[in-house]
Amino acid sequence: MNSFTPTKDDKFSFGLWTVGWQGVDVFGTAVRPAMDPVHAVEKLAELGAAAVTFHDDDVVPDDSTRGQVLERFTKALADTGMGVEMMTTNLFSHPVFKDGGLTANDRQVRRYALAKVLRNVDLAAELGATTYVLWGGREGAESGGSKDVRAALDRYKESMDLLCAYVREQGYNIRFAIEPKPNEPRGDILLPSIGHAIAFINDLADPELVGINPEVGHEQMASLNYAHGIAQALWHGKLYHIDLNGQHGPRFDQDLRFGAGNLREAFWTVDVLQGSGRYPAYDGHIHFDYKPPRTEDEDGVWETARGCMRNYLILREKVNAFRADPEVAEALAAARVAELNEPTLAEGESLADLRGASYDPDALGNRGLGFERLDQLAMEHLLGVR
Ligand code: GCO
Ligand code: MN
Ligand code: MN
Repeated sequence: MNSFTPTKDDKFSFGLWTVGWQGVDVFGTAVRPAMDPVHAVEKLAELGAAAVTFHDDDVVPDDSTRGQVLERFTKALADTGMGVEMMTTNLFSHPVFKDGGLTANDRQVRRYALAKVLRNVDLAAELGATTYVLWGGREGAESGGSKDVRAALDRYKESMDLLCAYVREQGYNIRFAIEPKPNEPRGDILLPSIGHAIAFINDLADPELVGINPEVGHEQMASLNYAHGIAQALWHGKLYHIDLNGQHGPRFDQDLRFGAGNLREAFWTVDVLQGSGRYPAYDGHIHFDYKPPRTEDEDGVWETARGCMRNYLILREKVNAFRADPEVAEALAAARVAELNEPTLAEGESLADLRGASYDPDALGNRGLGFERLDQLAMEHLLGVR
C-alpha cells in the first residue's frame, strides 16, 4: 500500500503566507501567533515539500533588519535543502495600495509599486526563484466611474513591459506569471479569469516572458471549470505556475486545502497535470495556495499542509489507475475520445471533398456516445471501489 508520503521529487511547494496565515479575516482578529519563516521552512521540509514561495513582506517586513533576516532565512534553506521556486510582491496590504498598485489612479502610487516589485525581482534572482507572480488583488474597482479600464490596462501593460525589459537586461532566469481572480478584495478585479489574462499577455511587448498562475478557487468563484482552464493554458503554452487549493463553488475565496471542496474537479485537475493519458506531465512545482481554517491551532496547520500533498498523491494514484484500466480504454474508444485528434479535413482533401461527401445526420444523431459509462468509471476510481 502506498503510504502517500511526499518526497522532494514530488516537487510540492507552499506559500509562506499559507501556513503562516494568522486567521485575520473581515470579521475577526488573528487566532494564531505569527509564524517565523525559518520555522515554516523547517516544518515544510520535514513534511516532504521541496520549495517555498513568498511575498517580499512575508520574509522581510522591516528594512532595518533586512540583512540579518535574509542571512538567517537563506541558511535555513541551505540546511533543509529547500528551494525558493517563486516569489511575488505584496501590493495589497498597505493602505497605499487601496486603489491598486500598478493600475492605481495615483501616479505616485504606481511608481512606488513598480519600485517595490523591481527590488524584490532582484532578490528573486539572488535566491534562484524562476517564476515571479503578479496577483492584482487590488487592481480593480467597486464602481463604474472610478476606473478607466482601458487606461488601467495601458498602465498594467506598461509595467509588464518594463519588468520584462528589466529581466532581459539583467539576464535573470525569471518568467512572470499573472494570477487571475474575479473579485475579492476589490469588487471587480482586472484580468478576472484565465482567458482574460491570456488575451492580455498576447498584447504585451515580450509575451514569451509572461504566462499565468491560475488558482483553483479563483476560477470556481466565477463558476468556471479549472481543469478546462489549465488545459487551455497548456494549449497556449502559458501555464507557468499553479495555485492549488479547494473551493465550494461560487462564493467568497475559501482557500481550502487541495482536495476539499470540488473533489471531482480536483481529480480532473490532477489528470490534466499528469497529461490526460496523452501529453507530457506538467513539470513545474505543484504549488499550494490555501489558508488553514481559523479553527486550527499550529498542529492543525501542519495537518492541512500534509493533507494538501497527500490528497494530490492519492488523486495522482487514482488518475493513473483510471488511465491504466482496460475497461476505461474501452469506454474511451466507445466515446470516440481519440478520434478528436484526427483533423476534420484529411491531408490532401479540400473543402469541396467535405461538402461533396454524403452524410446521414439522422444515423449520426442516433449514435450514443457512452460518456456516462466513462464518467461512472472515473467516479468509481475516485470513490475507491475499482
Ligand atoms: C488570494 C491570492 C493570493 C496570491 C498571492 C501570491 O486570493 O489571496 O490567491 O494568495 O496567490 O498573493 O501573489
Ligand atoms: Mn485565493
Ligand atoms: Mn493564489
